[in-house]
Amino acid sequence: MATAIAPANIAFIKYWGMRDEASILPYNGSISMNLDTCLTTTTVIFDPLLKDDTITLTLYGQHPHEATGRARERVVTHLDRLRGLAGVTTRANVTSVNTFPSDAGIASSAAAFAALTLAATAALGLNCDERELSRLARRSGSGSASRSIPTGFVEWYNGDDISSFAESIAPPDHWNLADIVAVVDTEAKKIGSAENHLLVTSSPYFDTRMAGIEQRLADTRTAIARRDLTLLGTTMEADAVSMHVVCMTQTPPSFYWNAGTMAVIHAVRSWRDEGLESYFTIDAGPNVHVICADTQRAEVQRRLEALPEVQFTLANGAGQGARLSI
Ligand code: DP6
Repeated sequence: MATAIAPANIAFIKYWGMRDEASILPYNGSISMNLDTCLTTTTVIFDPLLKDDTITLTLYGQHPHEATGRARERVVTHLDRLRGLAGVTTRANVTSVNTFPSDAGIASSAAAFAALTLAATAALGLNCDERELSRLARRSGSGSASRSIPTGFVEWYNGDDISSFAESIAPPDHWNLADIVAVVDTEAKKIGSAENHLLVTSSPYFDTRMAGIEQRLADTRTAIARRDLTLLGTTMEADAVSMHVVCMTQTPPSFYWNAGTMAVIHAVRSWRDEGLESYFTIDAGPNVHVICADTQRAEVQRRLEALPEVQFTLANGAGQGARLSI
């Protein structure tokens, strides 16, 4: 048995597009920041008396429920992969608890599969190092889970099955940044990332996105090393817009933004003109992550909550990676 805690993360440079579906390899590297309060805690108990895996999820503010359908299948497939490595067939009891609302536009699957990978490998006595854990989390299907293993600011490398893992590029206390999620829509996303990861090359703008990605990755590394918010912010916004342009122009297209998304984008840009430096990024949904210096967190949060389109906000600093809990 083992218990692990893993964070969600927000990508400054997005993973968008899967080059290899079998090994979950991306078209490009990505860079993210782990979130310090959006966590998943997972306990895995391998029990020879069990006939089947049981998976119990406790989402924020909800009663525990047993996972079914696709959600269950993804966990069982990942457990099978890890059991295979350990050479056992023992079934497991998995319980997982989330500290953040699942409707807030924060990818819960990254935290969930990072925590499951660490807890299950520890319980199986697999003794994996961080790179191996990150590769295994990547293969869970939720590629961004690879970035929830290492600590702080993290880069996931594009590469082959061995060289595509994530690694920390700076610890969480390197830079006091805040990510404030402005929630404009709590409905579950209708189009998952999984389908869209396979459609990217149908967009005529995908090659343009790829042509600029190495420069944006380099600028993001520099921005993090120098704690340069202007460079990070402008690069991050350009990358988010590029990802969404690909979505909107692929076949069939996906439009994740709604009127609330646009209201937050315009507000953030006008605050910047007034001297309040904050920047937006958006994942596969309508909610907007606003990044600013931690010293501006209260003011940005107050202004976001005053917008009629914003239902609530959720603030995070940079956080640690996945760890075992004793
Ligand atoms: C837009 O396939 O890793 O968040 O769809 O949550 O399983 P799930 O995630 P994944 O795709 C992540 C897409 C993204 C960008 C990113 O986090 O890099």
